[in-house]
Amino acid sequence: MRTPIIAGNWKLNKTISEAAALTTALKASVANVSDVEIIVAPPFTALAAVNEVIADSNIRLSAQDVYSEDSGAFTGEVSAPMLKDVGCEYVIIGHSERRQYFGETNESVNQKVKAALAHDLKPIICVGEQLEERETGQTEVIIEDHVTGGIAGLSAAELLSCVIAYEPVWAIGTGKTATPAQAQEVHSFIRELLTKTYSADVASQLCIQYGGSVKPENASELMSQPDVDGALVGGASLEAESFAQIVKFG
Ligand code: PGA
Repeated sequence: MRTPIIAGNWKLNKTISEAAALTTALKASVANVSDVEIIVAPPFTALAAVNEVIADSNIRLSAQDVYSEDSGAFTGEVSAPMLKDVGCEYVIIGHSERRQYFGETNESVNQKVKAALAHDLKPIICVGEQLEERETGQTEVIIEDHVTGGIAGLSAAELLSCVIAYEPVWAIGTGKTATPAQAQEVHSFIRELLTKTYSADVASQLCIQYGGSVKPENASELMSQPDVDGALVGGASLEAESFAQIVKFG
């Protein structure tokens, strides 16, 4: 059985002291949870402080992006060895906001995924269609393009160190959650795709998260779908109580 993974993507929010306070409150609220993998993804500047707070807890650390090179003349970038060094276990790659505002492509996503894996970081690879693409019937074409582009060249073992997050762009930060049936349809499409390109065994082990306006009120219904294995949570992860309620969806 796949262990559900609930991750909080804090995006461009929280100073160091705010991040430490949020994590301290969250740590107390979820201390008894053992059947869910809990991840927080603070901004780069707060990673070290959050890592100190979560020492010896059931919360894991993720970054929100990584660069594909290890070091060198790349002003402003942060590398996989640096993220490992600060305590990260995961890294979010290819979030739709990075694709939309920062020119991220399937190729750059793929390079970053390989750089993360080379340094034992687990990539959370984001895929998702825009509203116009859904309305013109292109959802599956886009998802197939994002998934196959993002994981190109990975072995089965490498794929199983990844998480895929299905995040319909029209549902992110809009309050418009995909219905459980819409989420299930795409998650099962992704699993079928991986069955064809890898195997049924590999596809059945991969964790596929849903993201896009996940809240305490809709988490349990979304997560009850057979192929929805967790959530990538934005807005509702910025407060300990709402994120803790999502973590305890069952
Ligand atoms: P949201 O963001 O929960 O605020 O919609 C999700 C995400 O972008 O990961």
